[in-house]
Amino acid sequence: MAANFKRLMADSREMSRRSFFAMVGWGAFTVASLAALWESLNFMNLPRTALYEEPAAFKAGPPGDYGVGSTTVLTDKRVVINRDPDGFYAISLICTHLGCTPRYFNDVTSDLVAKGISGIKDPDTGLAATPANPALVGFKCPCHGSRYFRDAVNFFGPAPRPMDRIHVEVAPDGKLFVDRSVIVDRHFRLKV
Ligand code: FES
Repeated sequence: MAANFKRLMADSREMSRRSFFAMVGWGAFTVASLAALWESLNFMNLPRTALYEEPAAFKAGPPGDYGVGSTTVLTDKRVVINRDPDGFYAISLICTHLGCTPRYFNDVTSDLVAKGISGIKDPDTGLAATPANPALVGFKCPCHGSRYFRDAVNFFGPAPRPMDRIHVEVAPDGKLFVDRSVIVDRHFRLKV
């Protein structure tokens, strides 16, 4: 009788142990599944931008902070502000191939000219990279090598078109106001 009771207790302890491990296993499985589901939803879900990214519009300092001829790269915003003699314009720093962030360089053309590639000319500014004047400033994409002139016009690599120009204006408080959600014509200039 006592032996039967002991075995019963041992069996019951073993069952409890198995149940405990089964519960832990299911718990871990459930957590992992929920995490995977969350990642999938984030990947597909457009509202993700609202959850993770900064607001599309932001202020960027007064116009006097930007010299004529300057290029200001706001990497965290993925925005470039250029100031030319005819005004300001802003660029969305998103590669038009697959969306990586191009980087600014003082020379994005010399190596191509050295390889004998000719006809590197910005259709908007008329600037050309030639053996006599091989270095033009611009952007290179680290992902698949697309290159852009300073004004965002693509000229090399798989990028199918220029990077977008985005809205910039002077806010009532005198600072530049950039809105990444508003695409503008590439000839737009903010005159200040
Ligand atoms: S994402 Fe820029 S070249 Fe592919």
